Amino acid sequence: MELASKRQNEKQTVYIKTFGCQMNEADSERMYALLGEAGLEPTHTAEQANVIIINGCTVRAKAIHKAVSALGELQFLKKYNHNNKTPIIGMGGCVGQFEKQMLFKQAPWLDFVFGPDAIDQLPEMIFRVQNGEKHVINTDFDVLENYSTETKLSAPTSKAFVNIMKGCDKYCTYCIVPYTRGKEKSRTIDEILSDVARLVSLGIKEVTFLGQNVNSFGKGNKNLKNREPKKLHNIIGRVGPDEDEENFPQLLKAIDQDERLKNLRRVRFTSSHPLDFSDELINCYASPEQGGVSKLAQHLHLPVQSGSNRILEKMGRHHKIEAYISQMDRLRALMPKVGLSTDIIVGFPTETQTDFEQTLQLLDRIQYDNIFAFAYSPRIGTRAAKLNDDISLQEKNRRLQLVLKHQLKISEKRNTMFIDKTMEILVDNIAKNQILKKDDKNSTVWMGRTSCNHVVNFLSHTSSGLEGQFLKVKITGSTPLSLIGGRV
Ligand code: SAH
Ligand code: SF4
Ligand code: F3S
Repeated sequence: MELASKRQNEKQTVYIKTFGCQMNEADSERMYALLGEAGLEPTHTAEQANVIIINGCTVRAKAIHKAVSALGELQFLKKYNHNNKTPIIGMGGCVGQFEKQMLFKQAPWLDFVFGPDAIDQLPEMIFRVQNGEKHVINTDFDVLENYSTETKLSAPTSKAFVNIMKGCDKYCTYCIVPYTRGKEKSRTIDEILSDVARLVSLGIKEVTFLGQNVNSFGKGNKNLKNREPKKLHNIIGRVGPDEDEENFPQLLKAIDQDERLKNLRRVRFTSSHPLDFSDELINCYASPEQGGVSKLAQHLHLPVQSGSNRILEKMGRHHKIEAYISQMDRLRALMPKVGLSTDIIVGFPTETQTDFEQTLQLLDRIQYDNIFAFAYSPRIGTRAAKLNDDISLQEKNRRLQLVLKHQLKISEKRNTMFIDKTMEILVDNIAKNQILKKDDKNSTVWMGRTSCNHVVNFLSHTSSGLEGQFLKVKITGSTPLSLIGGRV
């Protein structure tokens, strides 16, 4: 569908403001690609755009607040149309999905609202607004049993996010995601392999498999090709899809074996739940000689949320901390270089100083490379929202600062261990944070990522063309958040 321009020969443009997780980032990329096919070019500022979309997140009150204040700021553009354009404004993502019609009441200038399952209808929704329809809304979950899609990229680089499953069936007591993203559905392994093969033919060298809980991938899809492993096990108990269904280790192994994917160098995935972190998935981290998956990046993000068994139970996480620790020990034994990260929530209802200290002890015990920590934020409609939110905002913030500081020391120490090592990085781009002093005015600071997901900044006399290259760098210094290297 070609979206009409009011004035002939004038290019229509779109600006998307993204909040939230990598799923939202990938969704925004898909929106740019779909709208690009419909003739809308991306712009860098809302002021220049004919269509403005906010892709919002509802995971914490702060996230919603950001999306809603971004919407508030746009009212100005609607009232005092800049450059003679009155933009069309839409709200999507988990905010669109959750708040639905309410958003039109709060912001009558908003033109359309949609949820993550309605992204492919975006060109049509914009067309309807352009043709005079008011307050267009589509927040239906797709009703199909299966999940089938093709990854769309607006401007292929060297890396791509690939959705492999959607939704979440875990219902952790604090979390809104199962209500905004619906129930778990997975794509088939064959479809994903063909999709990735097409991306590789476009020059993609690294893919990140996305889903709220990618390690429960495969539920509901029959294992028609008889792929291995069939039965999954883990220390916590029953795990993942049934024996006759597809599963995540099968997908990773198939990636390694597919001839079409020879030029694919790295596979990452996020996010996972310890309940579905199977022994068979841990085995994928072994060396290829021991049956491991050679393209699997040396990194794992496995959210734990708390170090206290009492709090884990209240969060509905269904495992003990000892089980998580033993999963991490097994993984480290198989791949000592693995980079580890996690998510932590502080100030969950009834969290005592002792519970909180158990979280700090867990950080000491695991020695993560990086953590993402959040203050608990009650979400209406979740089970935890019925509990008394008894930790004051001040105390939550105190614990948040403490946990971040605690990890910063661990990260700082861990990063120094890389000094003098030679590492391979995939170059992302010119560094945004110019933390390195340039040795002369002709040098440029670049950044890339190691397989274990460390950011490396390095100087080069080349100011273009390094994006997407695998380079060897020698680490010469470190900060708590990144490494500094020089080209070898
Ligand atoms: N499905 C993913 C990500 C969920 S949202 C996973 O399970 O890993 C990302 C993170 O936000 C969660 O891991 C959790 O740490 C945090 N989070 C979710 N709900 C929250 C809430 N109500 N308050 C504070 N943090 C929350
Ligand atoms: Fe939320 Fe838990 Fe599902 Fe993650 S696993 S999206 S934290 S309900
Ligand atoms: Fe936020 Fe929705 Fe992602 S609530 S974290 S954008 S799944």
